[in-house]
Amino acid sequence: MGEEVTRRVFSGMRPSGRLHLGNWLGALQNWVELQNDFDCMYCAVDIHALTTINDGKDVGHIQDNIREMVLDWLAAGLNPERSTMFVQSHVPAVLTLHALLSMVTPLGWLLRVPTFKDRVRQINESEETVSYGLVGYPVLQTADIVLYKADTVPVGEDQVPHLELAREIVRRFNNFFGPTFPEPQPWLAPTPLVLGLDGQQKMSKSLDNHIELAGSWEETRSRTATAFTDPDRIRRTDPGRPEVCNVYRLHKQFNPNDLPVIFEECTRAKRGCVECKAHLAEGINDALEPFRERRRVYEEKPEMVREILVEGTRRASRLAAETLEEVRERMGIPTSL
Ligand code: TRP
Ligand code: SF4
Repeated sequence: MGEEVTRRVFSGMRPSGRLHLGNWLGALQNWVELQNDFDCMYCAVDIHALTTINDGKDVGHIQDNIREMVLDWLAAGLNPERSTMFVQSHVPAVLTLHALLSMVTPLGWLLRVPTFKDRVRQINESEETVSYGLVGYPVLQTADIVLYKADTVPVGEDQVPHLELAREIVRRFNNFFGPTFPEPQPWLAPTPLVLGLDGQQKMSKSLDNHIELAGSWEETRSRTATAFTDPDRIRRTDPGRPEVCNVYRLHKQFNPNDLPVIFEECTRAKRGCVECKAHLAEGINDALEPFRERRRVYEEKPEMVREILVEGTRRASRLAAETLEEVRERMGIPTSL
């Protein structure tokens, strides 16, 4: 009879400040679920945030962004008794491991990663001028995961190539130096695609098409009111097409019981888009009420939030030190002088 081994879950989020509905439905809800069954480690990856701060203008916000993001984690229901929450740069062992893993990572693997190519194009750079740090992004991500010997990594579809690369790096390391790390697998929960208020692109803060989780009732209402609906529905008397309407898609998440009525009224031009969006805002506000309640409690106790991160960082550092000791032995780097 095999002993049941608990999976270790690791995931990271770049500290971008307050989170939005897309982060919640696409990642955070899943993180909260996983903590019931597994040993979970969730990391604010502040060094990863630096890979896209090329001009240095944004660096002043990292600390605040971490705080706001962690408040949202706690508000969403991450429980410090069950999940280890910590800050990447406060466990510097990850940078040592990053350097060591970079020795077994062929450059060609990194240059072929689709997110790297996309990113280079996006920021209008060439492979000559782009930072060394950005090329190594997936190596740092691998170090994040394997430093804690995590085997399960909840991520979105877009991160699958990074996880593939992580497994290749791990395989190569294990081949060279002996079995050390488990091969981390992505954990892809069935999450809805959350489009932004433009109804075109993924909801994202940088596109400013998002609805914040921590926004007020009124902010949520007024932002929802700006959402694009069926583009061909020009007059109130035109029948709408819920199947192409992003507001309808969001109703599926927030007003599931009202769907048949909404569908019927929309397709028969018995409901206008303005009232339909007000209805959606109510659903969102209702769903977020417990979230905001919990957030307020933590907002009033900054010392407690800090203590949660300190405690999380302490645990992460302990585990990291063990792994790094083993890695040094495997690679033949003196563990004592
Ligand atoms: N690259 C991830 C993203 O942009 C963030 C991340 C960094 C991460 N390290 C990680 C995710 C380790 C999972 C595991 O979303
Ligand atoms: Fe979309 Fe609602 Fe307008 Fe129909 S009535 S097009 S579902 S916003």
